[in-house]
Amino acid sequence: MMNDAMDSGNTRRVYDLAARDYEEIFFDDLSDAHWLDSFSSSLEAPSLILDVGCGPGNFSNYLGSRGHCPVGIDISFEMLSVGRQRRGVHHPMVQGTMERLPFRSGIFDGLLIAYSLLHIPKKNVQSVLQELRRVIKANGRSLLLLKEGDDERVIAASLVAGEFLVASMWRVPELQPLLELAGWNLISAEHGEPARQEEIQEPKLALTLIAA
Ligand SMILES: C[S@@+](CC[C@H](N)C(=O)[O-])C[C@H]1O[C@@H](n2cnc3c(N)ncnc32)[C@H](O)[C@@H]1O
Repeated sequence: MMNDAMDSGNTRRVYDLAARDYEEIFFDDLSDAHWLDSFSSSLEAPSLILDVGCGPGNFSNYLGSRGHCPVGIDISFEMLSVGRQRRGVHHPMVQGTMERLPFRSGIFDGLLIAYSLLHIPKKNVQSVLQELRRVIKANGRSLLLLKEGDDERVIAASLVAGEFLVASMWRVPELQPLLELAGWNLISAEHGEPARQEEIQEPKLALTLIAA
């Protein structure tokens, strides 16, 4: 089971199945709005922001409402599809993976990576951080939202009975050297409590990063 859950094809399949419920539960969840607001105001509007693992586009839509130009990317076609069906969601969203982003180097002013690096097995995170760094401009700013903890686990998917997902938790001392190696400077780390019973019940960790 561990090996299957580690596979990105499994992640895509489980989020395809969860998409409609995810959109209903989380699209209007504003419990992270304080972090999104400070990220948004740290970038001059309109900035081109890539929302990595955007799901139905909830957070990128929020950044769009603050005058930015978001672009979403997600591995799950159904997550994108339920987002596109929502009235008022107009920004571009493409299907793809953060392991190999279909964008030229250095084109984004900012990146938002919200609870999606969570599903990357720890052994692959260094190369994903490098790929994220590749597409942002030097001095560009990013907001990385994670779950705080030490381990990598296979967890039961809360929205799809009988399905499992990989969940990698991080603490700053473990992640910071990987970030620096990939060309990111860590500017701040903040903590928050989980807001919903459907999410992983570990504390939230919000990291602000600048591309070196
Ligand atoms: C917990 S949801 C977060 C959605 C949204 N960012 C939010 O915070 O509400 C995780 C999202 O990451 C996507 N995802 C997982 N692995 C991915 C990968 N390798 N590349 C792109 N997206 C991925 C999933 O399909 C899912 O939509």
